[in-house]
Amino acid sequence: MTFIAAAAGLALVSAIALTSGALPAGALADEVQSLRGAVEVPATDQAPAITVFKYQEGGAYSRNFRQQPPLIPHRVEKYQIDRNVNQCMTCHDWSTAKRMMAPQISETHYVDREGNRLDTVAGTRWFCTQCHVPQTDAKPLVDNAFAPAPTIR
Ligand code: HEC
Ligand code: HEC
Repeated sequence: MTFIAAAAGLALVSAIALTSGALPAGALADEVQSLRGAVEVPATDQAPAITVFKYQEGGAYSRNFRQQPPLIPHRVEKYQIDRNVNQCMTCHDWSTAKRMMAPQISETHYVDREGNRLDTVAGTRWFCTQCHVPQTDAKPLVDNAFAPAPTIR
């Protein structure tokens, strides 16, 4: 027992010795060493500025196929959706939509996976932006020859 404890103590002491050997006192305060070598403090960010896209707002998008979740014709980044809160529902729930002059979520959103009809939005529909997305004026990254369903008849 005593022997093991002593051995463990010794290992700890040498670990401390190794660590402090790698970092001489005061080294951190003087300069920051990164994998790229010495870095000026504060380091300047050389990345190009992020492009800010403009949300396309107002009206409604026509759907490209019958089952498509409609695209969102307004900004969404300020509306919190987490385990407890869903701010989309302050405008889109059956109890608020008329007053907020917003389209109400359809009946399908009140049916849970067992087929029960609920008075509150089903858990399977809670995270709206899993299916509904807003649009920006970003240029498409690749060419796309997609044509909406009604035109392919
Ligand atoms: C402040 C009220 C308000 C909030 C909050 C809100 N919306 Fe809307 N939403 C509207 C209004 C009003 C419309 C109708 C189009 C318009 O006038 O911009 C709309 C339209 C939509 C549509 C298009 C429906 C269709 O049939 O074309 C979708 C989808 C949608 N919202 C989803 C969302 C989602 C998802 C959230 C949360 C991230 C959200 N909305 C939060 C007011 C709101
Ligand atoms: C699993 C995917 C999914 C999720 C999650 C979802 N939706 Fe939908 N939503 C759809 C689809 C598909 C439609 C079109 C068919 C329908 O009405 O069921 C739709 C329709 C809508 C419509 C148009 C209703 C109408 O009568 O035209 C609105 C508004 C809407 N959703 C808002 C929301 C909001 C707000 C949330 C979050 C609380 C949400 N959706 C969550 C898939 C989804």
